[in-house]
Amino acid sequence: MMQINTIAALRAHLAQAGTVAFVPTMGNLHEGHIDLVRQARGHADCTKGRQSANRQADCGAVTVVVSIFVNPLQFGPAEDFDKYPRTLDADCAKLEGLADVVFVPAVNEMYARQQTVFVEPPPIADELCGAARPGHFRGMATVVLKLLNTVQPQVALFGKKDYQQLHIIRQMVAQMNLPVRIIGGETVRAADGLALSSRNQYLSAREREEAVFLQQTLDKVRLEILGGARDYAKVEADAASVLTKRGWQVEYVSVRDQESLGIPAVSDRMLVVLAAARLGATRLIDNLEVELV
Ligand code: PAF
Repeated sequence: MMQINTIAALRAHLAQAGTVAFVPTMGNLHEGHIDLVRQARGHADCTKGRQSANRQADCGAVTVVVSIFVNPLQFGPAEDFDKYPRTLDADCAKLEGLADVVFVPAVNEMYARQQTVFVEPPPIADELCGAARPGHFRGMATVVLKLLNTVQPQVALFGKKDYQQLHIIRQMVAQMNLPVRIIGGETVRAADGLALSSRNQYLSAREREEAVFLQQTLDKVRLEILGGARDYAKVEADAASVLTKRGWQVEYVSVRDQESLGIPAVSDRMLVVLAAARLGATRLIDNLEVELV
């Protein structure tokens, strides 16, 4: 695996590459990221190859690029940009044998000029996580566009744990006609069900035990909906109240339509229940899809 730090060197290296599959990250890699990197390897461009049993041999080789960049633009002034764990050596060790290139630009490489042009995300960026993190999705979408323009991959992979982020990236790619296929990877969880996140390490031992309750609460909501509950506002309020009584500071528990992330009509069948809440100083998010048949 090669580490590359500049946009020029990355472009030169990828100039002759066949299919490029890209996993953007902020580092501090865990099994959720590694799962996306493994999936990336399977996304060789087989569209030009003939159909045969030897699919792998007929596909162009894939170059897997992972970026590690803690993007200052997506952190608010009171957020954890400085504290965000930076573990480059350990990250590179985890990627060895899985990725071909790790792209690690410095802040002044990604923002060589003062950034005065931004991606204006859709209105949904002001709801859910965006309500408590003004400007977060604008900063995220701006850096993702810059990274996609830098790497120019055919495929880019993002985790479904950041469901709203994935939705906004899909909208940006579709509305800006970006020639990249976006793949959403399933959330990887610890054995007890807690969604893996770089921020889990901020939790104390007692908070770590409690943290699994977020996923359990979402699962209870999921089961209530599958059991026929359609008063989503009540289901959300009940779930938030249970979390609050256990000591969580709840930002939201919300049932949304999977496709639009809007408030679902009773006839909508493909739903997702999302939540963000703080345990002590640590903000956790999670979501579960609910499909009504
Ligand atoms: O999900 C993340 O790690 C970040 O938001 C991303 C997509 C790498 C952009 O900085």
